[in-house]
Amino acid sequence: MSVTAIIGAQWGDEGKGKIVDYYCQHLGHQMVIRSQGGNNAGHTLILEKLENQIIKEEKLVLRIVPTGIINPKILSIIGHGVVIDPVTLLEEISNLQKMGMEINPSRLLISECAHLIMPWHRLLDRQTNQIGTTGNGIGPAYAAKAYREGIRMGDFKYRPQIAFEKMHALNQRYSQLLKTSSEELSSIFEKYRNAIMALMNDYSEIITDVHPIIQRYLREERGILLEGAQGVMLDLDLGTYPFVTSSNTLFSGLCWGAGIAPQKVDKITGVFKAYTTRVGDGPFPTEDNSDYGEKLQTLGHEYGSVTGRKRRCGHLDLVLLKYASDICGFNDLVMTKFDIIYDIDEMKIAHAYMVEDDFGKVSEWNSHSYPHFAKKITPIYKTFTHPRENRHQIINFIENYLQRKISLISLGPKRDEVKLAEAF
Ligand code: IMP
Ligand code: MG
Repeated sequence: MSVTAIIGAQWGDEGKGKIVDYYCQHLGHQMVIRSQGGNNAGHTLILEKLENQIIKEEKLVLRIVPTGIINPKILSIIGHGVVIDPVTLLEEISNLQKMGMEINPSRLLISECAHLIMPWHRLLDRQTNQIGTTGNGIGPAYAAKAYREGIRMGDFKYRPQIAFEKMHALNQRYSQLLKTSSEELSSIFEKYRNAIMALMNDYSEIITDVHPIIQRYLREERGILLEGAQGVMLDLDLGTYPFVTSSNTLFSGLCWGAGIAPQKVDKITGVFKAYTTRVGDGPFPTEDNSDYGEKLQTLGHEYGSVTGRKRRCGHLDLVLLKYASDICGFNDLVMTKFDIIYDIDEMKIAHAYMVEDDFGKVSEWNSHSYPHFAKKITPIYKTFTHPRENRHQIINFIENYLQRKISLISLGPKRDEVKLAEAF
């Protein structure tokens, strides 16, 4: 066994976390790596624990720490491609400890090359947000990295004095651009500085050069999972720019952010919801603003796990999934939340687009790509009534269109509510 990548095939929130957990439990992977994004991601998991002989459900939202952490046999790694908010990381670690999970170098490691999100990144993101970002400073932190002024975990660990001086100087510089009072600025700065100091004092041993450890797992064929964050259509380059996140969410982005050569990966799984959702602004051809979309939103509890915003909802879009599958090279597919569609009398699936350009010319879209510069996109649908009874027809239609097999189907939020497609 070598490496498997799990990628969101739509606009994020496809239920990747649950599938990562399923693979760890059933396929025996021993390491899970988060490679890109930051605390804009939110993986919601429903755990069960025994209390006074009663099974209780506990909801866990992970934003930076990989989903592997809930499995004691797994070593979780936050790769160099992730941008880390120290305040959120510390909160998440303490939350996990309260739930009884151990945080030590055999359970969690953080790349010394990962960049930190700084207080001014967060403030800049909130004050200049034009596309409906999560407001967590993700874009400004990646921009700082490209601008060569980022500060990395290893800077604080090995050269703390220089790193804190740099942090102070940059804060001074950016404070002039911000519409924030100086009291508020200094209190946020203190909060971040304290969080970084706490991380360096209490968790310095988990901040390390992860590369030799990843390479050892590769040599020993111990099974590594690359846990994607966000989704293909939020990719900085090939998503619906500029309504995208600031990292590469494609398969290649996961290899980049983990330091794993692509040819080491033997399986790429694309995860998609049986319908489509999107949080934040930007094009969404199959969006449904009628009662149908509202039903999806209510039945599917479609609220952002990070921001609590209502997710926009619409129909399954195969043109989009074909594009995602082509640019990531999916070997197989996982369909999640099919149970939500069951309770609705019909399921609409987009299989083509009518595209209008800036000059008013309308044509059918049949290119193996995505119409990035379309003025207007009108999807063409096939409708399936009674999705529960017609589930095999639906699955066949999707598989034929994408020329890929659906291996698993998720039918509920709990850990065990996943079925092998062949037994479905
Ligand atoms: P940012 O990543 O916070 O900069 O936000 C950029 C866009 O990506 C916004 O539309 C966000 O709503 C969206 N986004 C970022 N992370 C996620 C995610 O994990 N799930 C869904 N949407 C996300
Ligand atoms: Mg999410």
